[in-house]
Amino acid sequence: MDNKRIIIAIDGHSSCGKSTFAKAIAARLGYIFIDTGAMYRAVTLYALEHGAIHSGIVEEAEVEAMLEDINIDFRFNPSRGASDIYVNGDLVEGKIRTIEVSNCVSAVSSIAAVREKLVAMQQEMGRKRGVVMDGRDIGTVVFPEAELKIYMTAEPRVRAERRYKELTEKGDSVTLEEIYENVVSRDKADMTRKISPLRQAEDAIVLDNSYMSVEEQMAWFDQQYCRVISQ
Ligand code: DC
Repeated sequence: MDNKRIIIAIDGHSSCGKSTFAKAIAARLGYIFIDTGAMYRAVTLYALEHGAIHSGIVEEAEVEAMLEDINIDFRFNPSRGASDIYVNGDLVEGKIRTIEVSNCVSAVSSIAAVREKLVAMQQEMGRKRGVVMDGRDIGTVVFPEAELKIYMTAEPRVRAERRYKELTEKGDSVTLEEIYENVVSRDKADMTRKISPLRQAEDAIVLDNSYMSVEEQMAWFDQQYCRVISQ
């Protein structure tokens, strides 16, 4: 089409397929895909494994003190066609999407020092442009100047069913009800937290994919991308 490299910011609710969509777009355009939720999950996993979360209660000061010991990097994994996340050189991709991490990640991601560190890393990763980044605050805080901003959502029931299928197929023993509760409580926590709450940027376009196939979403994306690139 055109070789102008832009920043594509995808924000929205949890479990509505943002990462799958962002990954497909990045592959189509030859862009780098960055899953910022994985970064908040990696910090949460580290905090869980290093005793800063007791019976589900996140000790903010302890997490903050640990931050300088946490080095996050992404390494491309050709078999997945996406990057895996590493913490201090350890591959943690397979450990960050458990229900334990999901239940604590909203509290960890509401700590100012955690956001400061991760936002700075994300801005550095997008410096050369040509990135598709998904999260909660990409179009509002990380890259307010992004050329294309998409705000994704889907009905909570539909999202819970998708995540339930994904986890049970992996062998996790979870119930649909606990996943549903996690989806609803994370929406609330993400949208009401004091720092960088999830909200639709004024210039973002909404994609509600409750009843859309992946192909329909890609066709919708092509239209939006062509519009932006021809401006
Ligand atoms: O996209 P996800 O569900 O894997 O994200 C996990 C959590 O991380 C989510 O509940 C909120 C937080 N998050 C955030 O605060 N800011 C981002 N840019 C991405 C994720």
